[in-house]
Formats: sequence, structure tokens, C-alpha cells
Amino acid sequence: MLTFSRLLKLALLPVTILLGVQQYALPSLNTFHIQSYISRLPVKLQDVIFFNRPRVVLPQGTVVGITIRETLKIPVDGFRGIPYALPPVGDRRFRRAEPIGASDDVFDASRFGPRCPGKQLLPTPGDTGGSEDCMTVNIFRPHGIGNKLFPVAIYVHGGAYNRGTASTHYTASMVGWSEQPFIAVTFNYRLGALGFLPSTTTAQEGVLNLGLHDQLLLFKWVQDNIEAFGGDPSQVTLFGLSAGAHSIAHHVMNADLGTTFFHRAIIESGAATSRAVHPYDAELHQDQFREFIDAADCGEVDPSVVFTCLRQKPESTITNASVAVFDRYNPSVRWAFQPVIDGELIKQRPIDTWKSGNWNRIPIVTGFNTNEGTYYVPRSMSKSEEFTDFFRALLPAYSETDIQKIDQLYPDPAKDFTSPYTESRDISVGPQYKRVEAAYGHYAYACPVRHTANLASAGQEPPVFLYQWALNKTVQGGANHGDQMVYETFNPEVRSISHSQEEIAGTLHAYFTSFIVSGDPNAVPGVYGKRSTWEPYNASPAGRIMVFGDGNDERAGGNGVGIAAQMMNDDWSRKECDFWWTKSGVSD
Ligand SMILES: *[C@@H]1O[C@H](CO)[C@@H](O)[C@H](O)[C@H]1NC(C)=O
Ligand SMILES: *[C@@H]1O[C@H](CO)[C@@H](O)[C@H](O)[C@H]1NC(C)=O
Repeated sequence: MLTFSRLLKLALLPVTILLGVQQYALPSLNTFHIQSYISRLPVKLQDVIFFNRPRVVLPQGTVVGITIRETLKIPVDGFRGIPYALPPVGDRRFRRAEPIGASDDVFDASRFGPRCPGKQLLPTPGDTGGSEDCMTVNIFRPHGIGNKLFPVAIYVHGGAYNRGTASTHYTASMVGWSEQPFIAVTFNYRLGALGFLPSTTTAQEGVLNLGLHDQLLLFKWVQDNIEAFGGDPSQVTLFGLSAGAHSIAHHVMNADLGTTFFHRAIIESGAATSRAVHPYDAELHQDQFREFIDAADCGEVDPSVVFTCLRQKPESTITNASVAVFDRYNPSVRWAFQPVIDGELIKQRPIDTWKSGNWNRIPIVTGFNTNEGTYYVPRSMSKSEEFTDFFRALLPAYSETDIQKIDQLYPDPAKDFTSPYTESRDISVGPQYKRVEAAYGHYAYACPVRHTANLASAGQEPPVFLYQWALNKTVQGGANHGDQMVYETFNPEVRSISHSQEEIAGTLHAYFTSFIVSGDPNAVPGVYGKRSTWEPYNASPAGRIMVFGDGNDERAGGNGVGIAAQMMNDDWSRKECDFWWTKSGVSD
């Protein structure tokens, strides 16, 4: 005889098969049909299909998440891979993203969506390759939080605007170990040429800075939808690293936004004045545009139909062309496909916005790492001329006097045996490597970050908190760009290394989550309640900076455990930054 449960199983068989097919065999199968099929089943049956999974009803449909428990102190509900825009494919490629309409669909939100196409710098675990259809959002909230609304944090991932994805940030861990509840949001935005293709032709088409517009659409999505997840849309922190940090800084500098979308910011190793923000029609970007359309086989058509041509190409043609042009400029770090001055989201040179006094005044945490340049500069650099040539190529608008000044600011180990950049490590790098790493790291990241701290703290009431990440992780990399990410999320693989690593991770995580829930890194004591008070930065008379992991080189093979976090005088690279600050905005 057939029992009820056997009947149920039989009834569910087609659905199970469909789901299995959808998830494992044919990821490209149109999921719409399956979802609309499931949504027509009685709700009780849907619950069985999705077991007791957390579900949230949104205007765009019902999202069914999963509860994540592994390595966390408290379980976290994760809703992953939810679209926040119509797929930017076909005729929607190279256009501003459009919001998603209302529906009664049921959406399986258990897995991250694909990352946006780009060549990854580091291997991404579980990477299935990129897809143009990548505009998805992920939400993490403490399991069973009840009806109150909690602060929200939106993570903007990094990757030079040409790679990276939300899933590399272990956001569930950050939420699951937080002393007080908050709702975290991560997402993908368009990258490379698909997201950032500047040129006069692009401007005529009205599609500059698409990736930044994607971010704004996501911020709006959060305003419209986050209450359903238990988030308070009036308490949003933006946080992010590298290109994510530059992006956040551009939104902070965009006075049109006010506090519509966000109310505090954590800006890690990035700034609006970082690297170079060119006008959209800068010669560099015009050249890169030309090379891109040639590579995509749209270089011969009339300029008025270039975008029509680009929209008709297969995805891999566009992606390959984007990667090829990015790679061509990568050795000189004159990166293609970057945000540009568009007169709209970035109205003028960021340094001029600082001077105008017209930015969004909100509490800010910002910081840099000791060895920001490690990934990016030529490893084998060996001759003194290569050092100066590197900066001549990177910064063509700098005068010869400026280049000589850089040459002196970073004493050449070939000529000055007391130079701090003399290479004594037993690693295969050229004798100019340490020097160019320092100079590029200062130029691109550390000095713009310190500039933000100086300008913001002098010009706004809300506090600014400055940090330096000094934990030496590897002999060559030192305290490398991005190293702090897995510490802020309190990842198991770092906190299990040693007690001191756990303390550094716990302390950084405690400051950041306290800032997210209150606007003050000191307000929530918790397990790391004995941590030093993080004093707000004050440029005058002398700034104070929170230094993480100073003297700790245990991961690099040393035995120093150093100090987890302590306030110090902000003297590091002061002389060098004084120079770089005078050049801010001189870019092409
Ligand atoms: C893009 O590059 C991949 C990998 O190099 C290659 O397999 C593919 O054929 C290329 N696609 C096009 C359209 O050129
Ligand atoms: C990191 O620590 C190791 C071990 O003490 C040392 O050899 C190396 O020079 C340090 N690296 C940096 C960039 O400070």
C-alpha cells in the first residue's frame, strides 16, 4: 500500500529531477520554468521541497535560502545568487541595468551566482567561470532574529574593476561571529569593458561608468528590499577593499547621493584619489577603447553603430577582447576599464571635490597596508633606470623634476648603501623591487588613504578612523594588499593558526562590526572588549593611527607575535605622502 509519504515522494519526483538537472547538469537551463512550476504547487508542498529552509517574500518573488552553520558561532541564513537587475545580456549589454519586475516566482537562493567575467588574480575556490549574466546579490542574516530591524552592511568587492567576485569574502563568518546582529549584503557588478569602457563614443551612447551605476542600482535594491530580511535601510554601512574601496569613495564624494543609500563607510586600501581617475576622453582611454573594439571585431564599423556591433557579438568575443587589452596594459599598471570623470557620478577630479567641500559627511574608517605594491610592480626590476622609467610610463603628466624627486624620495640601493630599500631577503626578486614596491604602494594606495583621513577629518564633524595593516604574512609580500580581508571576517583558517593570529582577527572583526552596528569601532565591547580605544583621526596637531599586527611575522617564518592592535603616531611614509599629495589629480 502506498503511504502518504511515499505518495508525496512520488509526486515530488519530477520536481526533484528538474531541480537536480537544473543545479548539476544544465546550469544554463532556463530556471524560470522550474521556478514557476514550483510556485504553482501548494505552499505546504513547496516547504517540503525546500525542507525547512528560510524564506523571504520580496516583490520580485519568494527567495528560499539556506542556514549556514559550519565554523560559525551562531547560525546564519544565507540567501545567495538573487538577481537584482534584469540580465545585462543581448540588447541590454552596454546599457544601464534595469530593475527587476514583480512576480510570484519561487527562487532557490542556496548558491552564489556566477562571477562577472574577468581573469582572476588568485584562484577562486569553486569557481565555475564567469558569465555575463552576473548581477546577483547575496544576503546574510543571523538565523532566527525576530521582528526588529538591524543595521546593514554592503560589501563592495575589489579586483581592479576587472576581476573579483562577492563570494571570496566569507561574509557569513563575519555575521556569525558578530557580537551584535547585523544584515550583510554582497553582490557582483559588471567588470572590465562590460562595466567600465570609457571613450567619447561611450559618452555619446550614455553608458559611461556602468559598473558604478550597477552599484547604485544595488544600493537602491537594498533600500527597497532589506526590511524583508530584517535590515534597517536607514543604517547602512558600505565596506570594501581596493576597487571596492575606490568605488565607495566615489559614492561618498558624490554629493547628489546625500544619505539616500548609506550612512557610514569602511574604505580599505582605496580612495577616490587613488591611482588616476581620468576624464572619459583621456588619450589613454581612447587608445584602449580603440584596441578593445578592434579586438572585438567592431573597429571597422561606423562609430554610430559600434555599440550595436558590440551587442551582437558572442559573450566570449567581448570577454576575450576585454582581458586582452587589460593584460596589455597590466605590466605598466596603466589599467584599462576604470571609472572615469563622467560629469555625473564623478563630476570632477576627486581632489577638486575635496577642495570644494561638497561631499557626503559620514563616519569613515579607512586604512592601508604596509606593502600595498607587492602584487603589481615588476618583480625582476634590477636597474635604476627601470625604476624611473616605470614612473615616467605610469605618470606621463609628471615633469622630469617630479620624476627626479621620486628618485630621491626612495633612495636607490644601487647608489646609496644605507637605503631602506636595499634587498637582503633570500628571494628571487630584482634589486630595485623593494624600492618600486614601496613607491608604487605609496602612490596608489597608502598616501591616498592617508589623504582621505587628513582631508575628511579636517572638513567634517563625523569621526574618521585611520588604520595601518602591518602583519607580515610572507617574506616577499609582507603586509600585502588585501591581506586583512580574511581577518575582518574572522575566517577559520586564520584564527586557527595561532593565538596571536586569532587575537588580531578577533580584534579587527570586533572594531569593524562595532562600527557597522553603531558608527563607532569602540562602542560594542564583547569578547575583545579589552582592545585599545581607537581614537578618531585628527590631522592637527598630529594624527594617531591604529596599527594592526605590528611586529608579527610568524606566518612569514619569523617568531615575532607583535601587538594585535595599538594606537601610534601617524608618521609612517609622511614625507613621501607629502610629495604624492601635491601631485594628486595630475593624471594624464
Ligand atoms: C576566447 O578565449 C578562449 C580561451 O583562450 C578560447 O577558447 C575561445 O575560443 C575564445 N573565444 C573567441 C570568440 O575568440
Ligand atoms: C617578513 O618577515 C620575514 C621573517 O622575519 C622577513 O624575512 C621579511 O623580510 C619580512 N618581510 C617584509 C616585507 O617585511
